[in-house]
Amino acid sequence: QMPETGSATWQSPSNIALVKYWGKKDHQIPANPSLSFTLNSCKTTTSLEFQKKTDRKLSNTFDFEFYFEGKKKEDFKPKIETFFKRIEEFCPYLKNYKLVIKSENSFPHSSGIASSASGMSALALCVMSLEKELNPDISEKYFNKKASFLARLGSGSACRSIEGPLIAWGTHKNIEGSSDLFGIKYPFVMHEVFNNYQDTILLVDKGQKQVSSSVGHNLMYGHPFADARFEQAHTNLDKLQQVFENGDLENFISIVESEALTLHSMMMSSNPYFILMKPNTLEIINKIWEYREASKVPVCFTLDAGANVHVLYPNQYKEEVLEFIKNELIRFCEHEQYLCDEIGKGAKKL
Ligand code: PMV
Repeated sequence: QMPETGSATWQSPSNIALVKYWGKKDHQIPANPSLSFTLNSCKTTTSLEFQKKTDRKLSNTFDFEFYFEGKKKEDFKPKIETFFKRIEEFCPYLKNYKLVIKSENSFPHSSGIASSASGMSALALCVMSLEKELNPDISEKYFNKKASFLARLGSGSACRSIEGPLIAWGTHKNIEGSSDLFGIKYPFVMHEVFNNYQDTILLVDKGQKQVSSSVGHNLMYGHPFADARFEQAHTNLDKLQQVFENGDLENFISIVESEALTLHSMMMSSNPYFILMKPNTLEIINKIWEYREASKVPVCFTLDAGANVHVLYPNQYKEEVLEFIKNELIRFCEHEQYLCDEIGKGAKKL
């Protein structure tokens, strides 16, 4: 039974990788497994309105409008059209509907925060809500799994934003149920020190990314260090399993910081090569190291494929770390901007 009209709204968060996805085996298939904290406050809210097309002849094109923060956006449409084409074989009903998509981010536009994970996961969830209208019997488990599967086809890391607090994506021999096709909840215990773990995002450079992640992933084909890097990701996942069990923050810090610097070193040693850190990124990293040494507070950094720094620390140190950030770090941020976030539970239907 086809519903004539309807709508759904989803709020989906960003995520921050502890073990990084960088490089593909194949189209939207990761070369190595990755693991991320789902975030809470940095999120995209997307609504999808759908109306059944009356003219059958029109059912061979995607018919949609896209609004971003209240304004009709034509320049975003090709990206969405590409996404629809990729998911079409799994969602053959899409062309039977006229779609209106409205999206907004909780974080400032062009903050240098990638919105692809939150944006693509929110859209994938909206598509799944349409599917559920057509087939009300689908289980929650199937819903989430397919939403993650579809989100991956929009942006790889987006498949890790459906649920929380820790999501693994990519086949790993010691992570039961892991798949290259969708993210799964990390199946091991998480020590209580990681409850409400904090991520304060320092906006060092709000400019457009110098290298898109799709270009970046492609640089791993034929990269001289690729195989060693992919193997290292597997090893780091094994080490993290211990860490999540025993709450050993010293090891957590050394794995997470090494992953961030390895991601950047892959870009520095590819052909062509890129430096995505800015001088202030290094200033911040050095300050964090000095502070950690002096205070013994277990605070560390991680990076995405850009200059911004994610500062990670246990909830119990929130007050003193925020003091440190305000006194010592925000001077290295563009317009002194930073975002306070923490580990979250995943997407929500509104
Ligand atoms: O999802 P993509 O294709 O934009 O790749 C994101 C890659 C990193 O953010 C750099 C690492 C990761 O695992 O999230």
